[in-house]
Amino acid sequence: MLSAEKNQALTQVGPGTPMGEVLRRHWHPVAGIDELERRPVKPVRLMGEDLVLFKDLSGRYGLVERRCRHRNADLAYGFVEAEGLRCNYHGWRYAADGRCAEQPYEDVVDPQCRLRRQASLQAYPVRAKAGLLWAYLGPAPAPELPDWEPFHWANGFVQVVFAEVPCNWLQTQENSIDPVHFEWMHANWTRRLNDEAGRGSGAGYAPRHLKLAFEAFEHGFLYKRITEDTDEQHPLWTIGRVCLWPNGFFLGDHFEWRVPVDDTNTLSVTWSFIRVPREAEPYVQTEIPSWTSPIRAADGRWITSHVINQDIVGWVGQGAVTDRSRELLGASDRGIAMLRRQLFDDIDAVRNGRDPKGVMRDPQRNQRVFLPSDHRDFFLHGLPLAEYRRDPKWWRLLTQFIFHAGQPDSVRRACEQATGVAQSRAEMIDL
Ligand code: FES
Ligand SMILES: [Fe+2]
Repeated sequence: MLSAEKNQALTQVGPGTPMGEVLRRHWHPVAGIDELERRPVKPVRLMGEDLVLFKDLSGRYGLVERRCRHRNADLAYGFVEAEGLRCNYHGWRYAADGRCAEQPYEDVVDPQCRLRRQASLQAYPVRAKAGLLWAYLGPAPAPELPDWEPFHWANGFVQVVFAEVPCNWLQTQENSIDPVHFEWMHANWTRRLNDEAGRGSGAGYAPRHLKLAFEAFEHGFLYKRITEDTDEQHPLWTIGRVCLWPNGFFLGDHFEWRVPVDDTNTLSVTWSFIRVPREAEPYVQTEIPSWTSPIRAADGRWITSHVINQDIVGWVGQGAVTDRSRELLGASDRGIAMLRRQLFDDIDAVRNGRDPKGVMRDPQRNQRVFLPSDHRDFFLHGLPLAEYRRDPKWWRLLTQFIFHAGQPDSVRRACEQATGVAQSRAEMIDL
């Protein structure tokens, strides 16, 4: 449990708050590269700051405060030009670095442009990587934007999925170091949901967790597990899964980031990779599609049919900012206690002018950074189609998108084209 005061310290994300300052030492994914190709201006709320992201006609990305310096018009309705973003109200134009580059009427009446020099917007750096646009809201110099090895895996189809989750970031990240929830929230609950829908597997309960281990490493924490059907030789014990620091999760075939929108909203970002069968190699993906998953069904209930939708039910169910003063943490929560301790250490580090855990500064070391993964060989080398068919787990990942509800047909078709394998639309996953 945490006192209300400590809970506040870990959950508030605005400028000047202890955790807000820690999170501002890291890059965060905020949009898909393809989104700005479709529409070059996008409002973004990040850590309590209202911003607008744009790509100007010269291809430069900008992220600036959302209200025009003139009379506060909404720059999300501005339009891009060769250099920068122009306010749609009276035409003031801002470059990607926030500088006001033009004030059409003022420039006529005052050739010295005195007002223009006072009219800069707060601006933040933006970088494109792995199909995503990443923002950094902290003090200069910005650290390295992590170059994780999976971003370089070949012969795969990648998609990015966003979901807008109405709760605080920390409870979503605590899910990244919570092995037991797989047994219940995914395996057992999915069985019951299928039973309710008349597709009952009648298969009782999933194998129980028998032993857990948690350990820190440079880029986060690893958690390891043994269940009734595995032993100490199993990769989920010898390698484990990665709670990626400070707000990510890496599960071998996909990353999830939990990006704080404000104290009570989080943008869930999923980067999902499926290796094409050998028969479809070589495959080079020219554009990574991104889409937004719904989280509520037509009847107002949360969607429960897909893996991360199920997680979202867990997260939002804990309350907008969960009350950690009434928790009863057990042995399964040792990882959660480690995570919170590290966050308090990070707050101290930033207060004392040091980098928090996970910040990389050395460009030489930030190249194809290795992350432990229980099936790395498979992702690196792939499988022939016949072997895919023999493995229920890989076959399911190849033929269904199990992580989020609402995958657009265009993305499903692009995946089919990449893999050469027909996809079935999962109404309700079956794990
Ligand atoms: S409010 Fe933006 S130019 Fe006037
Ligand atoms: Fe989960």
